[in-house]
Amino acid sequence: MILKMKKYFAPGRINLIGEHIDYNGGLVLPAAISIGITAYVSESSDAMFKLSSATHSEVLTFSATENFTFNKEKAWLNYPLGVFQFLKEKGFSLKPLHIHFESSLPESSGLSSSASVEVLTMFLLLQESDYEISHQQIAVWCKEVENDFIGVNCGIMDQFCIANAEPKSAMMLNCATLEYENTEIDFGEKKIAILNTKKPRNLIHSKYNERRSECEQALAIIQQKRNSAAANLCECLIEDIECIENEIIKQRARHVIEENKRVKQAVEVLKNNDIATFEALLKQSHQSLKHNYEVSGTELDAIVDAALNHESCSGARMTGAGFGGCAIALVQANAFEEFKDFVIKQYAQATGLQAEIYLCDIGEGVKILE
Ligand code: GLA
Repeated sequence: MILKMKKYFAPGRINLIGEHIDYNGGLVLPAAISIGITAYVSESSDAMFKLSSATHSEVLTFSATENFTFNKEKAWLNYPLGVFQFLKEKGFSLKPLHIHFESSLPESSGLSSSASVEVLTMFLLLQESDYEISHQQIAVWCKEVENDFIGVNCGIMDQFCIANAEPKSAMMLNCATLEYENTEIDFGEKKIAILNTKKPRNLIHSKYNERRSECEQALAIIQQKRNSAAANLCECLIEDIECIENEIIKQRARHVIEENKRVKQAVEVLKNNDIATFEALLKQSHQSLKHNYEVSGTELDAIVDAALNHESCSGARMTGAGFGGCAIALVQANAFEEFKDFVIKQYAQATGLQAEIYLCDIGEGVKILE
């Protein structure tokens, strides 16, 4: 019997600006990229689900009655299994499928491969089982999977962008209200490059959760000492942070409040085609993530410095959670090859690592391919 095969795709994402503020009720400016994860889906002939991947050897076959909790040994399978478990607990009756994943996204590199698998799996399971659920709802549920099943207390940015992004656009997303506006990306003669440090992101989960709890502490102090009614850190004023005695907590709050302001400014200057000011904001964002929020690190700093040392680039910053992974840079398109060689060489001298650098095409949110 020949079973019908369907293809689904979910992109990775970059974040132009607005880092580590989604979980503080801030504004962010992510965009889907053209690389991502494809799922080949066929109906199961024996009522069993099967998950496999082109990049990993683990394969799992299971029945609809099985239950799952996070298990380190299961590696990447935790993401689709978290989604499966979530939908099951919500009462959805899911059609048994064989799902084979193929990814062109570098893993653990800050381009959000985990949110991409989650959104892809949830979207296709619901589609194939004939449920009509909005992309916004899928994003919110996938964030819950990441928070409660995987145990990373992330914000909504990645899942929301991957589920909802429009072609050629960045999305200005208000993470407190989930209202968003698409802004067409056009940097004229300049293009966005992705700079992968190839530095594995160790300890990312614990450091990420630590930053989040530092922000919660900052907000609680401001609410108490300033009698502030702010519902999140991005609603606080910069002068509010003066009441925070602990220098580290104060620095974290400074980053959050100032980064949120930078996003607002970035959206304005992009509307006026003022690329030079946008580039200046990218640099300020990186400096703040390095010094105030301390999520950058030797490799990300080295690659951003190398990019800015080349004459074709005046704006670069880390993107995503940090602690390794990728940076983005705005580069004069006709000088890209020269830029690439220059950065790879200078970065290798500084770190001994071989960076991967490519131009980034803007993509769109999760979809059925055929
Ligand atoms: C990760 C998280 C997002 C966001 C970024 C940092 O990608 O999943 O929610 O917090 O880090 O901006």
